[in-house]
Amino acid sequence: MAKPSADIRTEYEKLKAEIERHNRLYYVEDKPAISDAAYDQLFDRLLEIEQQFPDLLSPDSPSQRVGAAPSKKFESVRHRVPMLSLQKVTTVEEFADFDRRVREGLETDTDIEYMVEPKLDGLAVELVYRDGLLVVGSTRGDGVNGENITANLKTIRNIPLKLSAQTARQFPLLEVRGEVIMKLSAFKKLNAQLESNEEQPLANTRNGAAGSLRQLDSKITASRPLLFYAYGISDTELPRPGSQSETIELLKAEGFSINEHMSPARGVTNVAKAFEKLSSIRPTLDYEIDGMVVKVNDFSSQRTLGQISRAPRWAVAWKFAAELAETILEGVEFSVGRTGVITPVAKLKPVRVSGVMVSNASLHNEDELTRLDVRCGDTVVVRRAGDVIPEVVEVILERRPKGAKPVSYPKTCPSCHQPIERLEGEAAHRCLNVACPAQIEGRLFHFASKGGMDIEGLGGKLAEQLRDAGLVHDPADVYALTKEQLLTLDLMGDKRAQNLLDAIDRSRHAELPRIIYALGIIGVGETAARILADELGTFDELAAASEERLQNINGIGPTIAGNIAQFFHHKANRTMIDKMKRGGVVFPVHQRKQTRGALLGRTFVITGTLSQPRDHFKALIESNGGKVTDSVTKKTDYLVCGEDAGSKLEKAKKLGVTVIDEQALLNLLSREP
Ligand code: IVH
Repeated sequence: MAKPSADIRTEYEKLKAEIERHNRLYYVEDKPAISDAAYDQLFDRLLEIEQQFPDLLSPDSPSQRVGAAPSKKFESVRHRVPMLSLQKVTTVEEFADFDRRVREGLETDTDIEYMVEPKLDGLAVELVYRDGLLVVGSTRGDGVNGENITANLKTIRNIPLKLSAQTARQFPLLEVRGEVIMKLSAFKKLNAQLESNEEQPLANTRNGAAGSLRQLDSKITASRPLLFYAYGISDTELPRPGSQSETIELLKAEGFSINEHMSPARGVTNVAKAFEKLSSIRPTLDYEIDGMVVKVNDFSSQRTLGQISRAPRWAVAWKFAAELAETILEGVEFSVGRTGVITPVAKLKPVRVSGVMVSNASLHNEDELTRLDVRCGDTVVVRRAGDVIPEVVEVILERRPKGAKPVSYPKTCPSCHQPIERLEGEAAHRCLNVACPAQIEGRLFHFASKGGMDIEGLGGKLAEQLRDAGLVHDPADVYALTKEQLLTLDLMGDKRAQNLLDAIDRSRHAELPRIIYALGIIGVGETAARILADELGTFDELAAASEERLQNINGIGPTIAGNIAQFFHHKANRTMIDKMKRGGVVFPVHQRKQTRGALLGRTFVITGTLSQPRDHFKALIESNGGKVTDSVTKKTDYLVCGEDAGSKLEKAKKLGVTVIDEQALLNLLSREP
């Protein structure tokens, strides 16, 4: 292969820098300096050199922005510092409460300086730069583990692939966080295009951004009009700017796009003014925002305040009130949930609310139906707040068509036609027939869901088929399914049947909290299931626990405790559990995970001579939620290094593992968890 001459090398480096400068002018500063044709010429020359001298090709080349070969699935990546979520407020009073808690936490009476930032409605991502190069980009995921979507993020033209040499030196590791969005104008154009190609249009800009980023083929991502706006850096590494406003300055100087409406505001009154202002300009913006993020500006104050569970005490999302829309009620249907609750559902003429097309809305229960007195043909007001299920809030009586008939509540279950009842003290009507087909289907769907036994491929449609074929009466029956039985179902080929059986088999080893959740005990969601597993450790302990013992568990109230006791009292449920055991479900002992500690989820290796024996530091790390292993690998987060370190230090340097000394370890510990 031909070796590039020094001239070619220089030309190549210059071209890379020049193209990135134009990317920046065009995508970040909105001030293009050359014509598209001149840009294409530079780009073609770059590609020519790379083709001729493939050895030159570097990961920060603008050519890497066109997308890589499709991948089979996204790898999981752990965030060194968890990506937190935010507490929410919707009124000035609630914000003033938040502010009071901040001042109490900081033991001060003076007004707090906040940064106020539009809350962009896209997808949160993290970009990891090592020695100035973008090496990993990931989604937020569950906050601790995200998906590695580096190839896709590299296609976003306003994301720097390389930082300045000075920043690279100052921050050998820099983790930038922000939001990927699709502008409204670009979204509309893209949808028109998709529709004219008879492809499925995107529901809203957030789905547009999320769907485009989660493409396994990054060439598709490259074709989508996405932009990244940075709003912070994670606090893994010192030195660090001293405040949020300094961070924003640093990011801006490095060429990251920053939202133009971020600003400091001191005290509740000024923050409230900023909120009013943002609300008023919202309709003029070419991107969707769902509120304002308010952050305590000073980082040492942030550290003092720390966090509660997964949200910081130093920031809050001040959300806009739910959006309203008017439409026509075309009919009312009654749906039966897995617990037998009957819910009236409004069938609406499709209408756009907060960026989503809505055609169904909950009418909750009979009392609500009576209160609203909705009738077919009525014009109704529909509300949707964030991810919440839309609901009908009001009927516009003046526009009621003549002769509109009231909706009559059914006397029997729409699924099994048995009489339905309204239990004392409940607003809901229930079908009490445990063999009701809708309930069987609902329980199976819940059992197999992602938070439950996570049986991939077993969704609503298949649950319905399995029930209709009489193959499943209760969820435990899935463990007795055979391939022959599956093959009798519509649209079921050999491959799909085998995949399903494999997924069922994997679920036999589900962790205890999943099993508890999957049972579908009323009121026991994922959080309660985890608390129960943490507290009781085994399934048998749970099944044997008295109502009183359950009530005494922190986080489990009397109603849930009662529901659990009742669940295990029912013979049908005990039979189902026996069937699961016979079907090979393991019911593992639950290892309680440490959920607190400044070093939670970090892996350390200790080397060299320290001021105290290694076991001392090992115990210290472990008691703060960290893990200590013997050898340095890619998965190591920190090498704690004393005097006279040898091969481990070298390996850490080679792998880019962060090396810290004893004092830096103690600094990490003093950080708020
Ligand atoms: S700060 C602890 N700043 O809102 C700080 N988040 O739950 C957490 N978001 O999806 C994030 N604009 O991506 C922050 N200026 C902003 C933001 C912002 C949008 C999103 C974020 C996440 C959600 C926070």
